[in-house]
Amino acid sequence: MRREGNRDDPDWIDKHGFYFVKIACLKEKFVSRPGQASPYYPVLSILVNLKAGVIKPSPGRALAPNINFSMIIQLTGLSGSGKTTLAGLVKQLLENDNRQVEVIDGDIYRKTLCKDLGFSREDRCENIRRLGAVAHSFVCMGKIAIIAAINPFEFVRLELKEKYLARTAWIKCDIGILSKRDTKGLYKRSLLPDDHPDKIFNLTGINDIYETPFSPDLVIDTGNETVGQSTQKLYQFIIQHIPAYSSLSFPLLHTVQMPFYNKEV
Ligand code: ADX
Repeated sequence: MRREGNRDDPDWIDKHGFYFVKIACLKEKFVSRPGQASPYYPVLSILVNLKAGVIKPSPGRALAPNINFSMIIQLTGLSGSGKTTLAGLVKQLLENDNRQVEVIDGDIYRKTLCKDLGFSREDRCENIRRLGAVAHSFVCMGKIAIIAAINPFEFVRLELKEKYLARTAWIKCDIGILSKRDTKGLYKRSLLPDDHPDKIFNLTGINDIYETPFSPDLVIDTGNETVGQSTQKLYQFIIQHIPAYSSLSFPLLHTVQMPFYNKEV
């Protein structure tokens, strides 16, 4: 399908003999295993200059919205550690770069898609599996998906890694600091006498399990870093781990160069 004319400056594209080619076949780079969902979804649209017989990225701002490389990153950590704050700030930075980002926040999804779930082990696992599926659907649309949930169990985090190639960032913070911050008053409630009506019996990190990530891709220590430092760390990690245009293999570019020059492949 010829796609000139659907951009901001179609005249420029025509004048220079450029055509859009949407490459949706980059899966070779991200091997799928039997029984698993397609693990990755980098969708790249680039401009092809037929006259010159080469593939070139379009210049300036025309290129940015067309690169839809995406990924899932799961921020895991105790309540109050800073997952939501960091996810929101990094989303803004990424959007400034013309990237599309969705934050999948445990607190928010627990009021909608996951409102039937509580805080038992089974429910927490089911919660994360649902959030993973939501993240996957965003990534299929070319968006970066940031999951911000406590996500306390290592095997479920690994499940998301296996299934969707999700990266893991441990948002680490000492329980003493969290109890002092206590932004939601949950830690105080967990320390109430057992017969108190507001007592929480299964607060993660106090009287419920939080499994320290065994081998996280990134550790952010919000107890010892400023919000700015932590935000930058997460932002840099994401942009460094999104497959870049330059990381595409040459044979792949070559494959799409001529035979499919005016088709979606
Ligand atoms: S998870 O364990 O299933 O990943 P999720 O991130 O969705 O948890 O929800 C955690 C949020 O629920 C906390 O940020 C807090 O606001 C609220 N919450 C209420 N009760 C609990 C509890 N017992 N343990 C942890 N979080 C709780």
